[in-house]
Amino acid sequence: MIVRDLKRLALVVGPLLVLLLLSASLWHSHSGDIASHVGSLLGQSGKTETSSTRRTPTLTADGKHYEIYSLSTPDGKYFDIRFGIEVFNPNIIPHQKFNNTWYIVGQVFIDPNDDHTDKTVHEAGCVAQFINGVLMCIDYVQHLPIEPTPGGKCTGDFAYINFNVGPHDARVFMGPQSPFIIYGSNSAFTCFGQFIQDFRKLVNWEYELMTPDDFAVGTEIERPPPYAQLEKNYFAFWDNKGDMLVHYDLYPKRGFGKLERNGTVGPDLAPRVKEHDEKCLKRYMPELPGDLESIHQATNSMKVTMCNRADKSCEPHDGNTYIMTIAQHKTYYNWHSEYEPYVVLFQQRAPYELYAISKKPLWIHGRQRHEGRRTDMMYVTSANWKDHGVNYHGFLDDVVFLGFGYEDKHSAGIDVLAADLLHDIGRCDDP
Ligand SMILES: *[C@@H]1O[C@H](CO)[C@@H](O)[C@H](O)[C@H]1NC(C)=O
Ligand SMILES: *[C@@H]1O[C@H](CO)[C@@H](O)[C@H](O)[C@H]1NC(C)=O
Repeated sequence: MIVRDLKRLALVVGPLLVLLLLSASLWHSHSGDIASHVGSLLGQSGKTETSSTRRTPTLTADGKHYEIYSLSTPDGKYFDIRFGIEVFNPNIIPHQKFNNTWYIVGQVFIDPNDDHTDKTVHEAGCVAQFINGVLMCIDYVQHLPIEPTPGGKCTGDFAYINFNVGPHDARVFMGPQSPFIIYGSNSAFTCFGQFIQDFRKLVNWEYELMTPDDFAVGTEIERPPPYAQLEKNYFAFWDNKGDMLVHYDLYPKRGFGKLERNGTVGPDLAPRVKEHDEKCLKRYMPELPGDLESIHQATNSMKVTMCNRADKSCEPHDGNTYIMTIAQHKTYYNWHSEYEPYVVLFQQRAPYELYAISKKPLWIHGRQRHEGRRTDMMYVTSANWKDHGVNYHGFLDDVVFLGFGYEDKHSAGIDVLAADLLHDIGRCDDP
């Protein structure tokens, strides 16, 4: 009994010590000393070595999904993300300096039935490492200082949203040089809009001078009309010239345009590729029988070159390099949402037409099936390259971190090779 309690105590106290050492250092100060000391203290538990028994994707028993397995967990299952408080819609990006260290960010859960809590919505984040197989905060979790925005444009069924204060459903992601955050907040143009900000302005990010200083403050992303009352899930992408564009919608029709530094956008470029894209979407995306099903954008974007970084002859060019994002097919039966993630690739050069879509959605190993048709709800919110320095553009043998919510209560993630996400993907022009 005592031995077991001691063991338990060690499990608790170990990480706490690390936490105490670090809380002084990582988020606020620029002292690399303590952090690297802690890194070496953490030793093995800080590492997420790729296990030698990598499991490649397998077809599930019902033949409807490709199951993907974690590279680093012993059983291939996803891992938990712990903030120390209830946080959902997780995002994971590499720390700019330390190996095996990440920023994790998500939305703080507010109990709607608790009348005593402040109803201001916050995104919260911390510096995190793996401790006993869990990606957890190693310093204090902090609210990100995102400015609430005025609104007052919500009407009808959405009028209550006028009372919202604070950012929702943030996506944190790496651009070519630096990280950004896109989040929902009260809009100046419609009821609820999408905003972008340089993520480095929200945390104490040590960064090189001379990197672009765009979106220093939260900036609303405009879109060519018509606006929906609630605008959601925009993602940014960078083309082969380094221009930044914003992607509003994927299904049933795409919408995207060039994003300026003041939040204005150029014309909708999607009509130029409408015919090609709709044929491709129709071919690979499921048919939607009615109101209880939908397909929408889920994550940020990444650029991927379809050969291995380790291969000396692998050179990125327009013929092998695409923008990658994840879209989800949502079903809502018996008051339970379920999401099936599909990987979508499109061209990095104008006119940015679709290139490929998953033939079957991904099944994250560890997701359970229950009585009847019910399965666990796992909602993918972010996809980023796992290692620092990769930033926006990776290769098939680079590792991707997917962050997802689990039954709207927990945060979790999985690390897989980009090649595993793209397993048996269907090209638009396949015969
Ligand atoms: C991080 O890992 C890379 C590759 O293994 C190594 O070259 C680099 O020195 C490491 N950096 C730190 C700060 O430990
Ligand atoms: C926003 O920036 C674009 C491109 O620099 C410029 O053409 C436009 O006039 C600006 N709009 C506003 C409202 O400042």
